[in-house]
Amino acid sequence: MRHVTLLDIFTHPIAKKYLTRSGVAHAVSVAYHAFRLSTQYNVNPDLATKAALLHDIGHYEWYTDGQWDYEKYKKNDIHAIKGAERAHKLLIRLGEEPQAAKEIALAILLHTDSYLPEGTIHQRPLQKVVKLADEADEEPGGKHHYRQMDYALAVKKIEELDQNVERILGSEQFKQLG
Ligand SMILES: [Fe+2]
Repeated sequence: MRHVTLLDIFTHPIAKKYLTRSGVAHAVSVAYHAFRLSTQYNVNPDLATKAALLHDIGHYEWYTDGQWDYEKYKKNDIHAIKGAERAHKLLIRLGEEPQAAKEIALAILLHTDSYLPEGTIHQRPLQKVVKLADEADEEPGGKHHYRQMDYALAVKKIEELDQNVERILGSEQFKQLG
């Protein structure tokens, strides 16, 4: 019933390229947090974990003279906008349902308000879950982007998460939610 799995997404060369940039360990751990929070907020765990896995896929590297430039990043960053578009394209290419791809892209677009005037967005539950999952894994100074995780281990964790998502989607409780 799922057209695309987390593993399909995670092992695609485009995801591999950009998630390596923003941190594979962070992406995997935010996806796990989103799974846990999706039950709490009654949102679809399939959409929540996919959005969480891809939430930072739009990051660009801001460097000045070979050094990471945080000021430049803060001023110019649009990773949520770029990420929403990049994730949408990847999901459609993999065969995701257009409606689901749109929901996921929107959750990525609205997972942060860092590129918007403060207090201008109102997040719906799915978007809130992705934001909270991201914050749950954040470390001071952006360190969460640099935490390392062995690729084989990451793949194993993603497979396990796929099974967890499928278990919930097949449960009576979820079917009642519609
Ligand atoms: Fe993040």
